[in-house]
Amino acid sequence: MHLKTVQRIELPPAADMHVHMRQGDLMKLVAPTVRQGGVDTAYVMPNLVPPLTTVDRVLEYKKDLEAAAPGVNFLMSLFLHASITPEVIALASAAGITGVKLYPQGVTTNSDAGVADLKAFYDTFAAMEKHDMILNIHGEVLESLAPPGMTLEEAFLPTLKSLHERFPDLRIILEHTSTAAAVEAVKACGPSVAATITAHHLYLTETEACCNPHAFCKPIPKKPTDRDVLIRTIAEGNPKFFFGSDSAPHLLHTKNDAAPGKAPAGVFTQPFATQLVLLALEEGIERGVIAEDAVSEEILANFLSRHGRRFYKLPEATPTKKIVLERQGAAIPESVRSADGSVEVGNSRAGDKVFTLRWKEA
Ligand code: DOR
Ligand code: ZN
Repeated sequence: MHLKTVQRIELPPAADMHVHMRQGDLMKLVAPTVRQGGVDTAYVMPNLVPPLTTVDRVLEYKKDLEAAAPGVNFLMSLFLHASITPEVIALASAAGITGVKLYPQGVTTNSDAGVADLKAFYDTFAAMEKHDMILNIHGEVLESLAPPGMTLEEAFLPTLKSLHERFPDLRIILEHTSTAAAVEAVKACGPSVAATITAHHLYLTETEACCNPHAFCKPIPKKPTDRDVLIRTIAEGNPKFFFGSDSAPHLLHTKNDAAPGKAPAGVFTQPFATQLVLLALEEGIERGVIAEDAVSEEILANFLSRHGRRFYKLPEATPTKKIVLERQGAAIPESVRSADGSVEVGNSRAGDKVFTLRWKEA
């Protein structure tokens, strides 16, 4: 297949292994956009206000999500916090909660209750290993802790390595990898360590992220060379790497009204999640980063759908359900808005032409 010229692609539904669905009216607005982006399985982040630190609240939230977006399989996570003891892990596992998200304290949106001392959680990690729960990591250190000249993500990589060595059977995912160094570090670990790659880290670099509030996110997009390594990694087809959009909606006015450099971190890609991955790969081909024929349907299905499901030990996607992508000249609208206009989120890459996506269920 030549992605640049192909008019129609049929794929299994995508599995988006990192989404932010928020709460209240914002949740009601964004949850239905999961299927619009071609996704039938979404792994939900727990950085709500307050963070999801009890099994009961996670289960309640899951019900709210299912009501807001029928037809999506929402997989749930707990927010790692002092209250997440080995006993809570046993309860969470029995309740069908999939994993636990580790936010180093203060590194990103709603992470103030995150982890300051990793050693305090070793018993919890041992319990997760025993119950086969997933540890999702926001792999960055605080700016004050990064050695000069090193990115916040690179400075975290030794911690990833040592956690993996201490808990070799614990399934760990380094979320939203943004550097060539992180890709290498994940490859160097055993098969229990994997990584998600977002759509936006395939097309943004520090140049846009510094100055456009809609491109500002954590981890901050890096150099063109890092972006291109992520693109090549997808084309290599390594099963350790799979899709997690990290789509992170913020109300439009909080982005637009923020002082320069002060916008809340997060790029909203959910309604065009699959299409934006395709667009970024197409641009990778145009820049000569990967070959014209490097993006086959097999490569796309593996990255967008199969690798994630396999790492999470989920069943394969239902073979009768497909997403069909066709070039019809459609462009991404400026925003997603509630009917009364009171809730609005700006789309990443508004105005750009993308494939039109529809569901095909035999
Ligand atoms: O850009 C980001 N936004 N990165 C994160 O880690 C959190 C997310 C959010 O919740 O807004
Ligand atoms: Zn996230």
